[in-house]
Amino acid sequence: MRNPLPPVPGKLLEIEVSDDLRRGTPLATLIVAPSEEDGDAVLEEIGGVRPTGKAGDVQTVPTGDVRWLAGVGDGEPRHYRKAGAALVRAVSSALGDDVKAGLKAFRTFAVELPADAGAEHVEELAFGLLLGGYRFTVTADEPKPSVRTVRLLTRHERAVPAYDKALERVRELAAAAAFARDLANAPSNIKTPAWLADTVVATARAKGGLPNLTVSVRDEKWLAAEGFGGVLAVGGGSAAPPRLIELEYRPRGATTHLLLVGKGITFDTGGLSIKPADGMHLMRTDMAGGAAIIAAVRAIAALRLPVRVTALVPAAENHVSGSSYRPGDIVRHYGGKTTEVGNTDAEGRMVLADALVYGIKKHKPDVVIDAATLTGAMKVSLGVRTGGVFATEDALAERVTKAGERVGEAWWRMPLLEDLAETVQGSLGDVRQAPGGPGGIVAALFLREFVGDVPWVHLDIAGPARADKTYEDVVPGATGFAARTLVELVASYA
Ligand code: BES
Ligand code: ZN
Ligand code: ZN
Repeated sequence: MRNPLPPVPGKLLEIEVSDDLRRGTPLATLIVAPSEEDGDAVLEEIGGVRPTGKAGDVQTVPTGDVRWLAGVGDGEPRHYRKAGAALVRAVSSALGDDVKAGLKAFRTFAVELPADAGAEHVEELAFGLLLGGYRFTVTADEPKPSVRTVRLLTRHERAVPAYDKALERVRELAAAAAFARDLANAPSNIKTPAWLADTVVATARAKGGLPNLTVSVRDEKWLAAEGFGGVLAVGGGSAAPPRLIELEYRPRGATTHLLLVGKGITFDTGGLSIKPADGMHLMRTDMAGGAAIIAAVRAIAALRLPVRVTALVPAAENHVSGSSYRPGDIVRHYGGKTTEVGNTDAEGRMVLADALVYGIKKHKPDVVIDAATLTGAMKVSLGVRTGGVFATEDALAERVTKAGERVGEAWWRMPLLEDLAETVQGSLGDVRQAPGGPGGIVAALFLREFVGDVPWVHLDIAGPARADKTYEDVVPGATGFAARTLVELVASYA
């Protein structure tokens, strides 16, 4: 059967800086809103349109050189992301209208930067431009014409090198978020564990590969021989067998070694503890943690960060069948520890436990980071725009939240409450999988049983991994959340 998916990873806009104010390219101008101190001041009309300057407002100008006015609010860098995203969406729809009206489709548009825009403003604008127009569709129609290039125009020739440097980094970060979105958005009838593994192998090899990056894939036979009981239990109910994906990035001269582990559940029905039908379709993004890690490692290699990184994604489908694992089962993980299964829907921690023990034993990393759409409880606690951070060390938690701030992803630290630690202790087995209590915390305490004394941080992204609304550079569907933070976090060890 033909694979009906668009190429993964998909292509992003090209973005370039120029001080050559060529005519003929559709042009957008960024508008700073009048501040309160200006009283009731209004901005001067442009082509008969009075600009608002409100962050995220895009106004169309019917005549003259400038075609769009994009508000950047008070001009703070974070408003530039909103403006870039809203602008690229407006430009794409204008392009569609042009085509419908029989006009020649433009492929490039230009954005005039304000004279005082710094590298930070350009970074934020670029995130918005690159990701705000992201789409993932699988249709019979030929893809519609789309914008290919955006040119950022500055009158300050001397600013160009600084902007270019900022863009180099943003391009990779945005590509990582988009790649993570592509993987998580892919439908689960295509996205089996084997498809995920093959896609990672193919992307790592594309265009001659990336320096110092290797991928290996282990199948269900290898997993059985090595004793990955958690992955096999969860994956056992599906006709599509599990895989373990391992990426290794080994730049010469690196001293620090980080282990990243991502939940790779390609679909989560809940298993025998089956989920309600409403919203079950959303569980195609239950490998968003794994996707963020895969995409981050690719960007880390592309940016040639001087930090050694090993990534593990245990990939399995949590399905219902005569070979599903059951509540009440006792499962032996890699390394020997046993888990008493309470609820087959708590499958993420089952696969992560194996991978954590394996990765720590094999690689002896300095720090371990895991990312997972682990608990619905986390979504209740922090909503859908903030990720939960559980860390064994204060400095590590802070490193994550700071890295997130630098790339525009919000994190909030959650406690590993000691008074709940005994609830994950087993009576028949070593550990209890789903003892009840505050879900996000208990899940984190379960995972902690498998990391020993290596500094460890667990990222629960069940909330922000997907969106049902458009906001900033996010569109409905998978958000790619955590990919950018992970790249930035790894960069902080360089
Ligand atoms: N994949 C879900 C968590 C989830 C929920 C992610 C909503 C995104 C949105 C996870 O596997 C799960 O089902 N967790 C259970 C655990 C419970 C049975 C202990 C949950 O959170 O309800
Ligand atoms: Zn799940
Ligand atoms: Zn589940």
